[in-house]
Amino acid sequence: MKKITIHKPDDWHLHLRDGDLLKLVLPHTAKDFGRALIMPNLTPPVITTSDAESYHREIMDAVDRDMDFQPFMTLYLTEDTDPGDVEDGIAKGIVKAVKLYPAGATTNSSSGVRDFSKINETLAVLSSNSVPLCVHGEVVDGHVDIYDRETEFIERVLAPMHKDFPELKIVLEHITTQDAIDFVLNTPDNIAATITVHHLVINRNHMFKGGIRPHYYCLPIAKRETHRQHLVKVATSGNANFFLGTDSAPHAIAAKESACGCAGIFTAPVAMAILAQVFENEDALDKLEVFTSLSGAKFYGVTPNPSFLTLGKESTPVEFPASIARNELEVSIFDPEFDLNWKVID
Ligand code: NCD
Ligand code: ZN
Repeated sequence: MKKITIHKPDDWHLHLRDGDLLKLVLPHTAKDFGRALIMPNLTPPVITTSDAESYHREIMDAVDRDMDFQPFMTLYLTEDTDPGDVEDGIAKGIVKAVKLYPAGATTNSSSGVRDFSKINETLAVLSSNSVPLCVHGEVVDGHVDIYDRETEFIERVLAPMHKDFPELKIVLEHITTQDAIDFVLNTPDNIAATITVHHLVINRNHMFKGGIRPHYYCLPIAKRETHRQHLVKVATSGNANFFLGTDSAPHAIAAKESACGCAGIFTAPVAMAILAQVFENEDALDKLEVFTSLSGAKFYGVTPNPSFLTLGKESTPVEFPASIARNELEVSIFDPEFDLNWKVID
């Protein structure tokens, strides 16, 4: 059997939710990942250091004792965020990043930022502490075509922000366009990007193949095939400024299969199997570890996980379940619609 062993991966953009959903999805990340950066878009959002401390406790209570998994907490930036509280959270070691959602850009983002001039003091705190700002990079204006929202955000918000705070570490999250790739390639190393599993696999046609397919709907929305190909190229290139953030975003099936379905794709259980396949297709299995386990750790200033993960390639396709469930709650697992021969074996 063909095998590959890598330092245990980290997921630098993950939605674990809370309550029952947290208990349902957490084991699927904790199994394959050493650490994950936990998104704060709960209802209500994780805004203060004290919110992050309680959410951290809730996650740790849900982690099995035999699992070696560490959640890294983020704060949800609002126009009323207290920069002093952010600084305290950083000093205590609980706040690993701050997340910027433009108000209305995505799931649970209504408390996000409308007037970017109101967050300057917090950006100064992040910059002087070398703590990253994670950015959902889409403008929210209804008149801007949904497929252009990332590109407009880069021009109108991100480039000026980088100019005003040249030392600020920024992660442009879940990038979907060649424009985002170019921005990161043409800025210094304090600007990085995360790439999801699903954006390496689907293009915008997947949402409409044979009918409307809500389980392929996420934000930022998948773009044209050419953009997907550029994402695959840069993810498998070994460039340290592009690393894995799955944006695994579980929603109950009923909330996805609806007249107004939620954005978000749940990939955690199949993330590493799909990535191994994508990297093998590019003849780049030797770059998988850089993307999943080394570059993000370097950007966030931590050493790679000391433990390892082994993936093996079966001669026949591996069967993965279509969904997971707990009590009444069922969440659909991302289907890449190609055979998966890889699986995590240790
Ligand atoms: C995410 C969610 O469901 O919380 N949804 C998504 O489509 N990616 C939010 C986000 O990261 O935009
Ligand atoms: Zn997300």
